[in-house]
Amino acid sequence: MTLKKVAVNLGRHSYLVWIGTELLPRLGEFLRASFTASKVLVITNPRVRGLYGNVVERGLGRAGWDTVWAEMPDGEEYKTLATVQCFYDLALAKELDRACPVVALGGGVVGDTAGFFAATYQRGVPFIQVPTTLLAQVDASVGGKVGVNHPRGKNMIGAFYQPRLVVADLDTLATLPAREIRAGLAEVIKYGVIKDAVFFAWLEESIDRLLRLERDALAQAVATSCRLKAAVVEEDEVETGHRQILNYGHTVGHALEALTGYRVYHHGEAVAIGMAVAARLAVAMGLLAEEQAVRITALLQRAGLPSRVPAKFSADELVKAMRLDKKARGGELTFVLPEAIGRVRLVPRVDAQLVKSVLSVC
Ligand SMILES: NC(=O)c1ccc[n+]([C@@H]2O[C@H](COP(=O)([O-])OP(=O)(O)OC[C@H]3O[C@@H](n4cnc5c(N)ncnc54)[C@H](O)[C@@H]3O)[C@@H](O)[C@H]2O)c1
Ligand SMILES: [Zn+2]
Repeated sequence: MTLKKVAVNLGRHSYLVWIGTELLPRLGEFLRASFTASKVLVITNPRVRGLYGNVVERGLGRAGWDTVWAEMPDGEEYKTLATVQCFYDLALAKELDRACPVVALGGGVVGDTAGFFAATYQRGVPFIQVPTTLLAQVDASVGGKVGVNHPRGKNMIGAFYQPRLVVADLDTLATLPAREIRAGLAEVIKYGVIKDAVFFAWLEESIDRLLRLERDALAQAVATSCRLKAAVVEEDEVETGHRQILNYGHTVGHALEALTGYRVYHHGEAVAIGMAVAARLAVAMGLLAEEQAVRITALLQRAGLPSRVPAKFSADELVKAMRLDKKARGGELTFVLPEAIGRVRLVPRVDAQLVKSVLSVC
């Protein structure tokens, strides 16, 4: 059995992230250490419940919990206020009070939606993240961003609401499609580039073990990613500045996702292309040594991720999409650019012509 813990230090919003194997059966004990209520609401989707519902319910039962299940259909299109409304109806019908913890069991879609429910039901109830995708384990479950989509844009309705506990069971990754694993690895690689050169070098050595889902390597990668994300969030809990470095690769990534109607790329794949483009842009601006950009692109490729913009997208349409992104204030192009592996800088007002010239050779 492997077990690691990462502390997220946010004053009275502090919590622990537990990362290891064989944790789902022990979820009841983890909850008992902090909560005394008799009922727990577990929010999930049919796919994840089919895989892990029994083991979770048995473990909760052993620790004296009476489990109430709430399911949302699988898919980003159900990350909506309508879904949250169903959870309010169910919670009221089951007479769940402010002491009952709410567990999100699933990927980032379940985590974001359940988190928004937990933040708003009776002005906030204890929230526990049990992420079952690599992306959710290394990114979505830590940091307290919760929310749902609006027809006019992704994540347009939300809150900052930190979980009280995160339990990431690496065993759940065994049932995840390989493409989802690779997409999660994009964010893992991102942490290395933005904040930790030693971790990046370790990823270069360990990428094949990670792709084979070797538990020790996974534990190391997930724990370090959570530690690095926690360090950024601790400096800027509600994203007024520094937290934006987590958007490395996302300027181009979001544009590619928007241009393809969110149907072609997994988020991590679009971000991988965006990280490679940002590295080349940094080289073109004289901020980054070419050899470092080559290492970034090579690692993305070894992880099975794309690193080039397909020829069918013109530089003009990509730049237009970047200007429309909600984070592009007043149509200005802001990039997180590496100065070296392990260190990035937020660069506002990047020249659009330069971006286009880099895009046309990517
Ligand atoms: N809150 C944040 O800080 C934050 C950060 C990054 C992403 N997000 C959000 O996360 C969402 C994407 O999350 P995701 O990539 O986890 O996608 P997802 O939640 O849609 O999960 C991907 C697929 O894997 C399935 N699945 C989940 N666990 C599984 C398992 N163990 N075995 C087999 N299948 C499993 C799901 O049912 C789904 O079909 C987006 O909505 C994004 O906006 C939030
Ligand atoms: Zn991302």
